Amino acid sequence: MSKVTIVGAGKYGSTTVQRVAAADIADEVVMTDIVEGLPQGLALDMNQSRPLERYRTKVIGTNDYADTAGSDVVVITAGLPRKPGMSRMDLLEVNAKIVADVTREIMTYSEAPVIIVVTNPLDHMTTLAAEVSGLDRNRVMGQAGNLDTARFAHFISEAAGADVLDVEALTLGSHGPTMVPVPSQCFVGGTPVTEALDAETLASLVERTRGGGAEIVGLLKTGSAYYAPSSAAAKMVKAVLTDSGEKMPVCAWTTGEYGIEGVYLGVLATIGAGGVKEIVELDLTADELSALRGAAGAVAEKVEELHGLDLG
Ligand code: APR
Repeated sequence: MSKVTIVGAGKYGSTTVQRVAAADIADEVVMTDIVEGLPQGLALDMNQSRPLERYRTKVIGTNDYADTAGSDVVVITAGLPRKPGMSRMDLLEVNAKIVADVTREIMTYSEAPVIIVVTNPLDHMTTLAAEVSGLDRNRVMGQAGNLDTARFAHFISEAAGADVLDVEALTLGSHGPTMVPVPSQCFVGGTPVTEALDAETLASLVERTRGGGAEIVGLLKTGSAYYAPSSAAAKMVKAVLTDSGEKMPVCAWTTGEYGIEGVYLGVLATIGAGGVKEIVELDLTADELSALRGAAGAVAEKVEELHGLDLG
């Protein structure tokens, strides 16, 4: 029996629940939140869509962590989203308290889940969940790369006038200003993106991808993006549940790859039942490699700040 828990029944959490449930590969998806009635109401609504959408996975809405017992995969979405003008880093302190608390609760009821963190600032909240859970680092990862890569692919397809499904894109690094879109690994219908688009256009798409989340926050005025983010998280959940070994960019614990170690960072990895199976090292250009190392340094610096917080 496979069981998934999604913590946080807000925009990101509830959309992820819906996507995972509709995939019909888990027996149960538990959705929990501190707001009473919210996860229960959403679960009832989602379960009633099953006869129409033709899937069986049942959603359990709850405020009680006891209902999460024995989860195979847990996605942590609990926390505050950005407001216009805020950086993800502005959420560090408030979300660190929430993520530390949630992780302790999860570990009280599940022995060795795979934890996928999506709460921002992503790289730091993933680090925190790993430290608080005490789990093997491979079992704790963060979602950012699938989303940033999808955003980059969308922008490339629009600029190149190409079918979005013919675009292969990739971003590595942090989920923030030191994100590293990787043009050397991007293709449009098999043609390198560096040949399909001129350098100026490509540079503007790289910048737009780095600010992809902020652009949506600015338009929405309240809350942040959740349709593409939930697709990105659900893709990771599915890879774990089906032990697919699929390759995707995730925030993973580095152990010397690219000369980087001891920091959670966006890298390409194979994902399966135990979380990260293996980090796949790519042949990056010198500029990309240096940007990736810069991102690692920026994350490590902020982790120091995180360690200075009193998280109870
Ligand atoms: N335990 C459980 N749920 C909590 C807790 C907690 N300790 N604290 C807050 N929550 C819940 C809120 O009640 C709310 O329902 O987290 C949910 C957050 O939902 P939204 O405000 O809609 O935010 P969302 O868009 O889902 O973003 C969540 O993902 O992308 C990131 O930056 C974003 O950090 C944010 C997170």
